[in-house]
Amino acid sequence: MGSGQQLYIKAKSIIPGGTQLLSKRPEMFLPEHWPSYYSRAKGVEVWDLDGNKYIDMSYNGIGSCILGAADPDVDSAVKAAIDSGSMSTLNAPEEVELAELLCELHPWAEMVRYARCGGEAMAIAVRIARARTRRDRVAFCGYHGWHDWYLAANLTNDRVLDGHLLPGLEPAGVPRGLLGTALPFRYNHIEELKSIVSQHRDELAAIIMEPIRDHEPEPGFLEAIREIASDIGAILILDEITAGFRLTTGGAHLILDIGPDIAVFAKAISNGYPMAAIIGKAEVMQAAQTTFISSTYWTEKIGPVAALATIRKHQRCDVSKHLVRMGSLVQEGWRAAAQRACLELEIGGIAPLGHFTFTGDHKQAAKTLFIQMMLERGFLASTAFYATYAHQNEHMESYLKATGEVFAHVAGALEHGTVVKELKGPVAHSGFGRLT
Ligand SMILES: Cc1ncc(COP(=O)(O)O)c(C=O)c1O
Repeated sequence: MGSGQQLYIKAKSIIPGGTQLLSKRPEMFLPEHWPSYYSRAKGVEVWDLDGNKYIDMSYNGIGSCILGAADPDVDSAVKAAIDSGSMSTLNAPEEVELAELLCELHPWAEMVRYARCGGEAMAIAVRIARARTRRDRVAFCGYHGWHDWYLAANLTNDRVLDGHLLPGLEPAGVPRGLLGTALPFRYNHIEELKSIVSQHRDELAAIIMEPIRDHEPEPGFLEAIREIASDIGAILILDEITAGFRLTTGGAHLILDIGPDIAVFAKAISNGYPMAAIIGKAEVMQAAQTTFISSTYWTEKIGPVAALATIRKHQRCDVSKHLVRMGSLVQEGWRAAAQRACLELEIGGIAPLGHFTFTGDHKQAAKTLFIQMMLERGFLASTAFYATYAHQNEHMESYLKATGEVFAHVAGALEHGTVVKELKGPVAHSGFGRLT
């Protein structure tokens, strides 16, 4: 057993769930055999605790390392910030510089607040919307973090969040008093939002969604969302935490031509250093002054410095163009390799955030076998690929060659019913599941 697995066994005895993020649980990849921990990461290369080197063709810091791990430009700015004191009684001037840059990139926005993580930034946006409208309920689509306002959706029954990325999540610890405050609708299903509006028109503080993720918006969908929000006086909050900075330098909404009242960024804006921004129209953002939103570490300097360096490099190097090109190569490669192997795959996601699923009764076992065999070939791979600026053609070539071999093998194993037998450990988990 590798050192990473041994450490993970120990971790589970002193850290509930083993890790701080569901998507980093080794069971989500290759139970009992995932390297689990890293000693070093640089660009797209990752070294585990035993010194094995892998090419990361999976999530690259769960979408945060948009330039690749340990980017030299971002890291040198961060090192300078550390040397000049990352925290003080006084404020970091970079907060103002970053606010100006974000408003310049998003001309509809006039004011900015900061946090350090995506979920907490979304909770801030929802608080501002509720403070501004003095209403309690929100309508939402998709995944937005772990906070009470969001998990309240599952108080009705534990299936409401199905289809919003976290099937079967129990909202234990979320006050039952929040029942009925978070009402879900599905992307491209405007009739579901209309039905919520018909029942709760004057009670809705916000409509909350990602501008794009798995599917292209159907013609008229985003326009209708904007129209409904304006019509009922609800704040339109676009969650750009994962979609932002993938398709352009800024929110995906800039190219989808939908104007929100608030947009929220985290993850990719600061290339692996904690930073989040809530940007919005002045009249909406001013409502933050009528409530209490305040935290010590939202004032440290590394986050804004990393964000300024990341965003400027993003702009200078036209990073999104590279991400779209790399992501498209991978999605086309999956399609071609699957066709050659006579393997049925469902492929989705915008180019820089592509994913696929195997089909049929053994799809989860097939995914596990894919991960196992790709790991043997030196790749951290799963059924999603988040492109970074550090990915180059040579990585695509070696990854797609390996993918072709593995798809052919998985297709054969599916045909002969040997998939589960070929696994060295249990089938990978999907969604949220208890580990004990
Ligand atoms: C769309 C979206 N919203 C919110 C979050 C939560 O962000 P964080 O994990 O930084 O709290 C994520 C994370 O995956 C996300 O993809």
